Amino acid sequence: MRPVRAPLPAPVASPVIKWVGGKTKLLPELLARLPDRFGRYYEPFAGGAALFFRVAPSRAVLADSNADLINLYSAIAEDHAAVVRRLQHHRTAHSEAHYYEMRERWNQQRPSWNAAERAAAFIYLNKTCFNGLWRVNRSGAFNVPIGRYIDPPICVPEALRAAHEVLARAELRCGDYKTAVSTATRGDFLYFDPPYDPLTPTASFTSYTANVFGPDQQRELAETARTLVSRGCKVMLSNSDTPFIRTLYKGFQIDRVKCSRAINSNAAKRGDVDEVIVVGGY
Ligand SMILES: C[S@@+](CC[C@H](N)C(=O)[O-])C[C@H]1O[C@@H](n2cnc3c(N)ncnc32)[C@H](O)[C@@H]1O
Repeated sequence: MRPVRAPLPAPVASPVIKWVGGKTKLLPELLARLPDRFGRYYEPFAGGAALFFRVAPSRAVLADSNADLINLYSAIAEDHAAVVRRLQHHRTAHSEAHYYEMRERWNQQRPSWNAAERAAAFIYLNKTCFNGLWRVNRSGAFNVPIGRYIDPPICVPEALRAAHEVLARAELRCGDYKTAVSTATRGDFLYFDPPYDPLTPTASFTSYTANVFGPDQQRELAETARTLVSRGCKVMLSNSDTPFIRTLYKGFQIDRVKCSRAINSNAAKRGDVDEVIVVGGY
């Protein structure tokens, strides 16, 4: 039986974008399984980074293979006020025409923008796009239509300042999770939230970036988790409750939890699904 951890202080920050697979709803289950104490906090599949913002660790590595996402976090860490200024412009200019112009410019011009411009455009498109569904096509172009919102929260300066406080303490890395975790040592805690193993062959959602995360990648991740545990690290992972995932993590503690999936383009398919939280090394 693991020792009961002291309750965390009140939340200081929360995700600044909506992200498919976001873990806000699963937070109570994840928090209940955090180790009592740990060294550095690692979240190498950051996405919206719901657990990272809730834990607000004093020493952390936050990573993702999506360069736009890591640019967003770096810009908020370095100069959140510059991001806020540009978001104020988007809030004033918001209209259908502005959305599609920004979508076009995002796809064509963002390499020439500075970090704050890219971060603000990312937040603007994310908060106003259909269903908050950030999706790119095979060539990496963002292609989601505008959403129907009365008053989307385009610019919330207090939320960005709170996120800045937490992000400024973290080391931000863009790239594959294996590189991100290579510096983890005994006592460090790692939370893995990879693209999920699909519940059905057609349910696969892997287009956060133009990359794919298939069965071979799931196998490799389980190997990495075992290596980290044998190095003395504490590991927690979430995934769908499939026989394949249960086989990969044999020997770990595997708890089934229910989670409602808010983002599914087919409303009939929204609802509770079973997920697992896997824990090892503590
Ligand atoms: C399920 S999402 C994480 C959701 C996150 N926990 C949240 O609260 O929003 C998975 C993330 O893994 C990233 N990703 C996919 N393949 C990766 C890889 N090989 N290495 C690192 N990150 C990867 C995606 O860009 C995506 O942001």
